[in-house]
Amino acid sequence: MELLNRPRRLRGNGILRKMVRETRMDKSSLAYPMFVMEGNNQKEEIPSMPGQYRYSVDRMEEKLTELLAAGVTSVMLFGIPGNKDEMGSGAYAQDGIVQRAFRKAKETFPDLYLIGDVCMCEYTSHGHCGILCGQEVDNDKTLEFLAKTALSQAQAGADMVAPSDMMDGRVAAIRRMLDQNGYCSTPIMSYAVKFASSFYGPFRDAAGSAPAFGDRKSYQMDYHNRREALKEAMLDAAEGADILMVKPAMAYGDLIREVKDRTNLPLASYSVSGEYSMVKAAAQAGFVDEAGIVCEMAASAYRAGTDIYITYFAQELAKFMDEGR
Ligand code: PBG
Ligand code: ZN
Repeated sequence: MELLNRPRRLRGNGILRKMVRETRMDKSSLAYPMFVMEGNNQKEEIPSMPGQYRYSVDRMEEKLTELLAAGVTSVMLFGIPGNKDEMGSGAYAQDGIVQRAFRKAKETFPDLYLIGDVCMCEYTSHGHCGILCGQEVDNDKTLEFLAKTALSQAQAGADMVAPSDMMDGRVAAIRRMLDQNGYCSTPIMSYAVKFASSFYGPFRDAAGSAPAFGDRKSYQMDYHNRREALKEAMLDAAEGADILMVKPAMAYGDLIREVKDRTNLPLASYSVSGEYSMVKAAAQAGFVDEAGIVCEMAASAYRAGTDIYITYFAQELAKFMDEGR
């Protein structure tokens, strides 16, 4: 049989397959999301996220040590406060839970890069991502609190801040606040393209941050929209975002690619809690091979254009990457 093109020629040998591999994964691109809680000597498994824990500040060290040993050099912190109130005051308290976690992590692990998720939903009694006016989240009023939150995190030792609230104009508001207070070198990674997604379910259990009424559709994006995703990305770039993010990752590869091609900023994608928990549940039931799925999902995110991959599987992935999977 005369066949000029035989793509299989490049697939017959494992060494060759790796030589012609188009997407190479590097663990320096990983960031691990981690929950910190009040209390002493606490390490509490999150029921909806088997294998993930909430740590009290005095016990973060064990996980951070493991991550660094595995070659994961960046961590994104989420605080779970002891008390929530209408104004989410724990989000911007100088001695709030996440601020204390940053101070401790910075002092104990100077080599770790620390990212702060900037939002109010873990801290508000109503569970919405901003300040309410009646039943609505008041965009412009929320901006000042987000800016205060970002500043308090930078002051506590966060190397970078990452607003996830989806208010309009928050990148500019945070940039101004940081600059006015001597933090002009602190980068902003904006959750620019963040959808109202059922994939966040397990996170909201973990953080107790589900909205007490309604949903987040008046601020997070409608997942049917592509052009709007590009608009959000462009706006955040124009407001001074240093890095853009698409979230979730798994079902949004098209938008990771498109944002990557149409902007000049580094791009992060966040493989969220629901992605993690689905893989865990299916693997525990014996339906899929966990390692195989984790590597395939990661490769799809990188292939689509991801530079920074935020995932609860960061530690495991670092090992798989070492193995050249
Ligand atoms: C806070 C925030 C959320 C996530 C990241 N930052 C929750 C939400 O928007 O409800 C989700 C992360 C995940 O599901 O892993 N706004
Ligand atoms: Zn929020």
